[in-house]
Amino acid sequence: MHRGIAIYPGSFDPPTNGHLDLIGRGAKIFEQLVVAILRNSEKSPMFTVGERIEMLHSLTAEMENVRIDTFNGLTVEYAKSLDATCILRGIRAISDYEYELQMALMNRKLEPTLETVFMMPADKYSYVSSRLVREVAQAGGPVRGLVPEVVEEKLREKLDPAYKLRDARMLEFMEPGTGISPERKERKRKKKA
Ligand code: PNS
Repeated sequence: MHRGIAIYPGSFDPPTNGHLDLIGRGAKIFEQLVVAILRNSEKSPMFTVGERIEMLHSLTAEMENVRIDTFNGLTVEYAKSLDATCILRGIRAISDYEYELQMALMNRKLEPTLETVFMMPADKYSYVSSRLVREVAQAGGPVRGLVPEVVEEKLREKLDPAYKLRDARMLEFMEPGTGISPERKERKRKKKA
């Protein structure tokens, strides 16, 4: 059986556990799976393409037949450039169906030799989307279990730039229970004096 190359196109802003689940399933049935990040998907994405590549790289490092790439323009043109035979997409719930059907049929119209293959992620991720993850994280809610740990970490860094510094170095210098470093306390004291 010729299982060929498949592309899994998307925005992955950020990658979720649902995406990762689908990548794992796709990697089992295709010879090679190319996770392809659309470069111009949104005007103001939360994560740069570079950050998304980095996250996806670390999430798929152990998967030998998976690689990460980016593309611009039409998905079918990109797929053809790789000699891919399939486009992999996930369907979580019936609400995804209409959009996915439209896209699959449009892609078939544009390139009849390419097949779109749909797979269902694990049901525990059926409500997880990048958009909702961004929304919850931006409002300070927990996203544990919805995204891989490396993404959770990146979300925290992104939404609280002081997080890295505070966690990595500052804690040991802080006055217990104050959240203020001795240096800052001293500066404040001098200012008052
Ligand atoms: O993760 P997303 O945002 O649902 O992915 C959507 C994506 C990137 C697969 C889709 O927008 C796409 O294929 N864009 C490339 C442009 C294109 O080929 N459009 C015609 C397909 S209908």
